[in-house]
Amino acid sequence: MVELALPQNSKIKRGQRFEAPEGAQSIKTFKIYRYDPDSDENPRWDSYDVDTSACGPMVLDVLIHIKNTIDPTLTFRRSCREGICGSCAMNIGGRNTLACTKGWDECGSTVTVSPLPHMDVVKDLVPDLTHFYAQYASIEPWLHTSTPTPKTEWKQSPEDREKLDGLYECILCACCTTSCPSYWWNQERYLGPAALLQAYRWLADSRDEATGDRLDMLEDPFKLYRCHTIMNCAQVCPKGLNPAKAIGQIKEMMLERAV
Ligand code: SF4
Ligand code: F3S
Ligand code: FES
Repeated sequence: MVELALPQNSKIKRGQRFEAPEGAQSIKTFKIYRYDPDSDENPRWDSYDVDTSACGPMVLDVLIHIKNTIDPTLTFRRSCREGICGSCAMNIGGRNTLACTKGWDECGSTVTVSPLPHMDVVKDLVPDLTHFYAQYASIEPWLHTSTPTPKTEWKQSPEDREKLDGLYECILCACCTTSCPSYWWNQERYLGPAALLQAYRWLADSRDEATGDRLDMLEDPFKLYRCHTIMNCAQVCPKGLNPAKAIGQIKEMMLERAV
């Protein structure tokens, strides 16, 4: 292990370099953001020269390999390894995505890996999503009804069910929200693309009977209208969803009820 050179008097702690084992066949360098807010130390970038022939095909496989065989202190979240739980969302090569579905062979010879941007860091690659989840809860993501509950089930026609396509698939990974400059600037008050896509998922549900209340909640200069159609959200969504379109549809509903 050797230390990377840094300018003298730099406040950033020197990163560490972990070299590949002798005889490694296929080496790729992963430059990974390291930070422990509970320590007195500044953040740093550590570099790991990884023998990718010893790893599975995804960036998450490399992170697991580093943790298991090189540096057990590296901290990150993951669960499903299938692009379903959203836990492993992080910034890879400058773009928010899921580590478990991002192939390391899609990246250059040096791959930077950092936590989702503009969020507090719990440790290393783990962002604090407390506020993000509170914003999601604020849109009341469940069916609201006032008519008596049917004996069997709330029915929905196939056509109405289709209106939820492109919405229900959201895994709440936060890639979109943390890529949105409007959210970076106003995250205390702007709900951000993920929560707004979810809000529209319930507005678009033919079984929901709280449309007016839901729109009232969103009628606010910050919660909804801080979306300025920057479109980063749609570009990065690892599930191929388009939160910007959902936000546009909420704005249309607002206009329709105003006339
Ligand atoms: Fe993640 Fe896409 Fe849902 Fe945003 S819309 S939280 S990027 S799955
Ligand atoms: Fe942000 Fe997407 Fe709107 S990036 S500004 S939520 S279109
Ligand atoms: Fe579940 Fe990546 S580990 S989405």
